Amino acid sequence: MEKNYLLGIDIGTSGTRCIVIDEHGSIIGSAIKEYPLYTPKPGWAEQNPMDWYDATISTIRQVIEKNKINGADIKAIGLSGQMHGSVFLDKNDDIIRPAILWCDQRTEPQCRKIYDIFGYKNFIKIAYNKALPGFTSPKIMWLSENEPGNYGKVNKILLPKDYVRFMISGSYATEVSDASGMLLMDIKKRIWSDDILEGLKINRSFLPDLYESHEISSCLDEKTARLTGLLSGTPIAGGGGDNAAGNVGSGVIRQGLISDSIGTSGVVFAHSDNPVYDHQGRLHSFCHAVPGKWHLMGVTLAAAGSQKWYYGTFGPSIDIEKERPDLKKYKLLDAQAQKIKPGSDGLIFLPYLTGERTPYADAYARGVFFGMSYMHNRDNFVRSIMEGVAFSQLDCLNLMRELGISSEKIILIGGGSRSKIWRKIICDVFESPLITCINEEGPAFGAALISGVGCGIYESVEDAVKKAVRQSSESRPDPENFEIYRKTYNIYRSLYKSLKENFKKLYDIQFD
Ligand code: XUL
Repeated sequence: MEKNYLLGIDIGTSGTRCIVIDEHGSIIGSAIKEYPLYTPKPGWAEQNPMDWYDATISTIRQVIEKNKINGADIKAIGLSGQMHGSVFLDKNDDIIRPAILWCDQRTEPQCRKIYDIFGYKNFIKIAYNKALPGFTSPKIMWLSENEPGNYGKVNKILLPKDYVRFMISGSYATEVSDASGMLLMDIKKRIWSDDILEGLKINRSFLPDLYESHEISSCLDEKTARLTGLLSGTPIAGGGGDNAAGNVGSGVIRQGLISDSIGTSGVVFAHSDNPVYDHQGRLHSFCHAVPGKWHLMGVTLAAAGSQKWYYGTFGPSIDIEKERPDLKKYKLLDAQAQKIKPGSDGLIFLPYLTGERTPYADAYARGVFFGMSYMHNRDNFVRSIMEGVAFSQLDCLNLMRELGISSEKIILIGGGSRSKIWRKIICDVFESPLITCINEEGPAFGAALISGVGCGIYESVEDAVKKAVRQSSESRPDPENFEIYRKTYNIYRSLYKSLKENFKKLYDIQFD
């Protein structure tokens, strides 16, 4: 019997995930392949787009073969991926240089130049957003100023998932949610902005065609069909930036719903029925992957990324490895954090390992452990990282509250939501109940649902969410912990202010 399966792909920062789901949202199969991230200079972050393509082909093939899926059962493909990254292609569609990623901070001077061109206030009025180093258009300017030879070769500029789309279909296409993060769009009208393109002297022909997220943008080509076991001609929907797609997958598609995603980055995301304009541009104001809807986002650049850095640099404690031989990797860190009480005995972590976006928009900020003493051990460090990330996400949530965005329900998603202790810390720091989701496949799951709208399996994104998204348990905050977290958060807030100038001086010493 023929099935109605959907395939979702997420081109993440640490790896690519491919999943196949049925129309009820049940997972038929999934596969992940990891790849490296390169840091050729402090603050830089690059990847090889071919790694994304190879991981896409191999994870699709793995899911299809392992689960004996008939290619004809896959009715559509949805793509999602890390936002803002720039893939520069020449006229032969060859990659000109490694892709510059969302967490790369090299373009602070180009952001200042954007304000010189348009005027600070006026630019926010046009773009609905600040010029931030992670976004794509400053990267394009950086290429033109720093690698003019490479800039001269540019024929197309694609986002990570859209490069993969090009490689599996031959089409240059993107969609509104991911394209919002290029800082080249008229967010209100959901089209490319002539004003921004003209002001920045960026050639319109460099950009791909712009679709709504559910629209079918292209079809799978024969070569990819041969390599993967899928059928050539399988429709590929626009898809979504990883945050918009992930939020479709967790049902954040109506006013009042907010999510907190703890992945490499930490993102507080609020659905909005209207485009939100804040004259200070403190939150990202982007198009949602739902037609005619928008969203707001606050981003902590190093959330689970801070934990990954800690694990890679210091590892779990020897004691915990002896005590809990049954546990592996981050579960060991969870067990360490569990040993320490709220407040980490006065150790505070600022998660600015690669600068910060929200609330400070400061490319020069760096990570800090504050308050270290002889009494602190590795368990304190592990817990203070979890608490510092929670404080940074509270900064984002508070900005939303200031803008009058209601948070009727907060849904916790992303890899970090699987940690019971991190969940508890966030719940207590937010002083709010948190819902988790049963579908834990994140953006790939949302992208698959979006593609189901495009190929007509669902009537709308709302219909897809109703039929396929299942939310699960609710964690409740513990008022006993509010006071210690409030007091610690106040110190956390003041630390950035007192260190701001020295962050910049430290950066200058390294680059003088
Ligand atoms: C969002 C952002 C990150 C990346 C991570 O603005 O930069 O969340 O999308 O994949």
